[in-house]
Amino acid sequence: MKNGQIIWGASGLSHDAAITILQDDKILFASSSERYSRIKNDPDFHPALILDCLQYGQPDVIVWYEKPFKKFLRRLLIDKRWAPYSVKDTFKQFGIKAPVKYVDHHISHLCGSLYTAPWYNVDSTLGVVIDSVGEFKTLSIWDIKDAKNYKCIHSFYYPNSLGLFYSSITDLLGLKPQEEEYIMMGMASFGDEREAEGMRFYNYFLENFFDKEGNLIVDLRRGCKSITADMVNGEGGFLFDIAWAAQKVYEKVTLDIIKKYLKQTGYKKLVMSGGCALNCTANSYIHKLVDNMWIFPNPGDAGSSLGAALAYNKTQVVLDNMYLGHDAGTNIDVDELVNYLNTNKIAGVIHGRAEFGPRALGHRSILADPRVPNIKDIVNEVKGREKFRPFAPIVLETHFNHIFEPINKNTHYPYMQHTFKCKYPDLYPGIVHVDGTSRVQTVDSKQPFIFEVLKKWHALTGCPILLNTSLNVKGKPLLNSVADIPEFAHKTLKIYG
Ligand SMILES: [Fe+2]
Repeated sequence: MKNGQIIWGASGLSHDAAITILQDDKILFASSSERYSRIKNDPDFHPALILDCLQYGQPDVIVWYEKPFKKFLRRLLIDKRWAPYSVKDTFKQFGIKAPVKYVDHHISHLCGSLYTAPWYNVDSTLGVVIDSVGEFKTLSIWDIKDAKNYKCIHSFYYPNSLGLFYSSITDLLGLKPQEEEYIMMGMASFGDEREAEGMRFYNYFLENFFDKEGNLIVDLRRGCKSITADMVNGEGGFLFDIAWAAQKVYEKVTLDIIKKYLKQTGYKKLVMSGGCALNCTANSYIHKLVDNMWIFPNPGDAGSSLGAALAYNKTQVVLDNMYLGHDAGTNIDVDELVNYLNTNKIAGVIHGRAEFGPRALGHRSILADPRVPNIKDIVNEVKGREKFRPFAPIVLETHFNHIFEPINKNTHYPYMQHTFKCKYPDLYPGIVHVDGTSRVQTVDSKQPFIFEVLKKWHALTGCPILLNTSLNVKGKPLLNSVADIPEFAHKTLKIYG
């Protein structure tokens, strides 16, 4: 690593192509190909993404988020698939000839969280990476002595994979695996331990799928064949019970493993990454085990484009917010916007730079008044989503404690990574899920645009919360630029941008 080098961290070719540009301790740009191609989880690099990246000049080096040969071997030996790929050739077709370095998949995940941790001093920290599979690893536990001195102390190897378990049940429920796990997580909230069917599946999964150490002992690579149609479609259908059971089993196994290694190391700080770190319900339970917990807000493979660059650069970066993507160059009249929202209408916003990651955090969002009783139905209809799907709140950080039950003294949760019990579900029906929790985004001055919107909304109405959901229609990525607005053409949604 040399000072001033333009480093491109890159991931993709299997799914979720993404590029992060790093220079010293600054993230200059980060985005996913899907935003440009309008194809969700697009594995290929779109020319418009490359053009946006080249505004920062040619890269001095490209750091790839995994080891292609190891992955090739895994696919060949375990999955019996012949699927080699060349990173060099991929970038050469865009005229980019920078040298390519390679980082282990789980080290890319780990470093994405390790080098963005907001408490900076990452010594004596436990690292946890959980995903479906990288090259061979599917879960890894890391002893982080300090930022440059970390070692893996425990691993699971494919197909022993908690992520694969969760994705297989997602598939079993008729949802799209590797994409719609968040829908299953939403469905899980409808079950509870008082439901006999939920408990039946919970016990079934625990007894038949896992050993005492949390290893997955069945091969789920071709789906969850041991659950038959009879079991799933018995009287009344048990899809929500299965979702609840799978979520609870995932939480139990994950928590048991993390507790074991927290105890072994004596650490009170934890950084987590991998696609499974998007499970905000589990995250809230994990958070209770430690004093400090940090998850890079784009913990899946797209975010590993940053992790790979950081693993190469070994520099702590300051992450003020996740507005790192394409600049829409828009200018929204905030007074007009909040007045419009105060008429019980919903509005889309396309403001400035797009979020890097799966969550809309106020720059590519649909906003609405969470106090309106039927607002959930209205927004779900506009987005073309299932009726049971919940919505999340953005709340002024100063008001977080008044409305939600905190986990500890921390009130700073700007990335929608944890759920909290809402103290007043009847006051805010639009943002409380069936289990009484909300996936909260707190807002302060580090998110200037949405902070201004929320402050003006609060001044106008006395309400410090807005309903916030991603500006996309079902099955499509978040809108990137104003040119994508026609995707909402047949919907009654006013979009500011
Ligand atoms: Fe991964």
